[in-house]
Amino acid sequence: MNTKTVLELNGTDSQLVLACGDSAEILHWGKPVAGDKTQAVLALRRPVPYGRLDNDVAMTLSPELGRGVFSSPGIEGHRDGLDWAPVFTLNHVEQHDDTLSLESADEGAGLTLLTELSLDKHDVLKVRHTLTNNKPSNYQVNRLANTLPLPARAGELMTYHGRWVHEFQTVRQPLLQGGYQQENRRGRTSHEHYPALVAGTPHFDEMHGEVWGFHFAWSGNHRLRVDVKTDGRRIMQAEEIYLPGEIALAEGESLTTPWLYASYSANGLNGMSHHFHDHVRATILPADFAQKPRPIHLNTWEGIYFDHNPGYIMEMATQSAAMGVERFIIDDGWFRGRNGDKAALGDWFLDEGKYPDGLKPVIDNVNRLGMEFGLWFEPEMINKDSDLYREHPEWLLAVDGYEQPTGRNQYVIDLQNDEAFAFLFSRLDHFLSTYNIAYIKWDMNREIVQPGHLGKAAGHNQTERYYALVDKVRAAHPNVEIESCAAGGGRIDFEVLKRTHRFWTSDNNDALERQHIQRGMSYFFPPEVMGSHIGAAHCHSTRRRHSIAFRGLTALFGHMGIELDPVKESQEEKQGFERYIALHKSLRPLLHSGKTWRVPTDDAAHQILAVVAEDKSEAVVQIAQLAMPTNALSGHVRIPGLSPDALYRVELIDAPENFNDIVNCQPAWTQEGCELSGEWCSTVGLTMPILDAETAVLIALKRIDA
Ligand code: DGJ
Repeated sequence: MNTKTVLELNGTDSQLVLACGDSAEILHWGKPVAGDKTQAVLALRRPVPYGRLDNDVAMTLSPELGRGVFSSPGIEGHRDGLDWAPVFTLNHVEQHDDTLSLESADEGAGLTLLTELSLDKHDVLKVRHTLTNNKPSNYQVNRLANTLPLPARAGELMTYHGRWVHEFQTVRQPLLQGGYQQENRRGRTSHEHYPALVAGTPHFDEMHGEVWGFHFAWSGNHRLRVDVKTDGRRIMQAEEIYLPGEIALAEGESLTTPWLYASYSANGLNGMSHHFHDHVRATILPADFAQKPRPIHLNTWEGIYFDHNPGYIMEMATQSAAMGVERFIIDDGWFRGRNGDKAALGDWFLDEGKYPDGLKPVIDNVNRLGMEFGLWFEPEMINKDSDLYREHPEWLLAVDGYEQPTGRNQYVIDLQNDEAFAFLFSRLDHFLSTYNIAYIKWDMNREIVQPGHLGKAAGHNQTERYYALVDKVRAAHPNVEIESCAAGGGRIDFEVLKRTHRFWTSDNNDALERQHIQRGMSYFFPPEVMGSHIGAAHCHSTRRRHSIAFRGLTALFGHMGIELDPVKESQEEKQGFERYIALHKSLRPLLHSGKTWRVPTDDAAHQILAVVAEDKSEAVVQIAQLAMPTNALSGHVRIPGLSPDALYRVELIDAPENFNDIVNCQPAWTQEGCELSGEWCSTVGLTMPILDAETAVLIALKRIDA
């Protein structure tokens, strides 16, 4: 092992050190260590205890049973029962700046494996494998996983769970023998199994501890696991779940895994999020749109549902524009026969009964009012009660001879059927070419139960074809922005984000629930991709009521919109929408470019979020009171991320209407403002105001000494 070559990838605050010999093994992924590392292999050479295999076995980037690694293998496959235990020999390594490619082969098995690794300046590590079959017979791939090591001190996990209207819920658990595993078999990224997790040193928190965060960029089925091996070593593994028989590589064919994104932070979860947010902003989001301010939306769904009347919609648009809305989106219900959720999916033709003069006058009106126009589609879906199904029952994604359960009364279209694919593209293309449509909301409202194509399993290809359809639409209409929605947050991941611009975070617009959902999402995504709407006071999904102030401040920290019928709202509510829209516009440059900090609190009943400008010249802080305060006095808020020596003017800029009436007196600074150093703000902080449950305040900090 001491004849191995040691290679390094260096981020800004992290480093990956690899030993390459006949295989490659990661020696270190963590804090950067300066200096020569030629003796690192010697220093880390493992002992060989009795009772184990006679020679030490490396934990490679693709564990192989045939080498003597008893962990979950990186590759499982066979050639009609043969070549099932490949052992790869590393034969070529290339490094270009922050990228490494490692080529390995098992000549006997007729397989080559290319491993690509990169660590960028934002400290995001990316890894993927490409397996190629070099023999004449098909190679059947059952599994192809990305594997990264974790140190033994990674003793705790933060994982995700959720459901519809309850996405991005996090849970902490110790990482013990037995490890952790999650499997998503729902055919889309899913509300239930967001494909990410964080491992860290025990008790890691927002500000402290070493953490290793992972995001698997795939919008279909996946498996994530973290194993504690019996010898104490730990690994993280992420892979697609392939259905039986679906991946058979003919000679010369290759299979590439999705990217596994990972990041090490020595500064807890906030540090990790900064890496992912910077990486998303710099490399994942479509570049052309990076600088464009994100327009405030009015989405019609919860305002009118399926009840479309162009005259009324124009009135909604007029009132939206008057409130400051910048993009008006007609949601579900505009196409032929779509009067409820039981029929018409697939019939992507304008309902001329509802829109006798066509869509143009509505769009022209929206544009005249100074707003962009957006339209809803759910391209992958079909109702049996539709002209499309009556004409093409064979376009269903199904397994012949089996009934399949419906989801929201609908079925999925087989995107591998070229005619179906071409039809869907032509309908989207028609609308985008005919009308001035700046934005589409691309929905996907059911899980996939029987991903069958010509009798065979086709889950992987269905997801690939979904990407291909979005890509084709984007290529034909590069100026159109797309929102990824799947009954709210069912398809939120980095691979979708490469081709879309925004996510519909959740169908739950309840501000209290949104505080939790948006926090969970914020670990991996910056606020500008998080669709965040002010819903009606009486929330449709929870039937709770919240003030406009709490709803407004909660929606402020995302890509803001309004989701209701403005025509029916009271004057007071409308003034509220106007206020929060104007506030969002004034803070938007900061919110959508600054660093997000989830601020530790003294009381679990508080949730605090700060966004600090990159140059630290200003910041905005939201204090949300989620439940009744635990104590009579509310503790301090300490604001991280400021420049320690700089002087800041601190002011309360938004508070509940009764803010000064609920106590004898609120802290003095909330009335007069105050001037404090960045160091004071982060170390000692300010006394928190006392708030009622389910209310929030907003604080602005501006640097005044420069
Ligand atoms: C589910 C989405 O999440 C909603 O916002 C809305 O677009 C409906 N589908 C429309 O059917």
